[in-house]
Amino acid sequence: MTQGFVRVEDEYCLRPVYRDEVEFLKQDLRFIVSDGTFHLVLCHNLAFTYFDDATQSEVLRKIHDKLRPGGVLVIGSHESLSQGASGFWAWSGKQGIYRQMDRGEGCGGKLR
Ligand SMILES: C[S@@+](CC[C@H](N)C(=O)[O-])C[C@H]1O[C@@H](n2cnc3c(N)ncnc32)[C@H](O)[C@@H]1O
Repeated sequence: MTQGFVRVEDEYCLRPVYRDEVEFLKQDLRFIVSDGTFHLVLCHNLAFTYFDDATQSEVLRKIHDKLRPGGVLVIGSHESLSQGASGFWAWSGKQGIYRQMDRGEGCGGKLR
């Protein structure tokens, strides 16, 4: 934590050496258009709490396609991916941490 962040009062701020590489975009999660692929997606307390089932499935599919193979999706510890979700496995399900896998890979490509 201290390697990447510096505490400023009640907030943790990304150290400048890393911040220069970070791009902040304001986007509607239902229509993700970011270029490139990612090692990590943090999606806490939004899609998997407030979106309806169909929209959750669609957002999850888009996140899957934006993650590199083996990439990590972190959602809230009070949230969960539906049992029908494919292309992820629960790395630490209690903490809401999932890893991307090819849809054809292992366990029939189902969430486990
Ligand atoms: C409950 S807050 C959670 C904020 C933060 N992720 C957290 O866990 O502390 C939900 C956030 O999602 C944003 N939001 C609502 N609908 C959205 C959408 N369709 N796409 C992207 N962000 C959205 C809201 O503006 C709000 O900032």
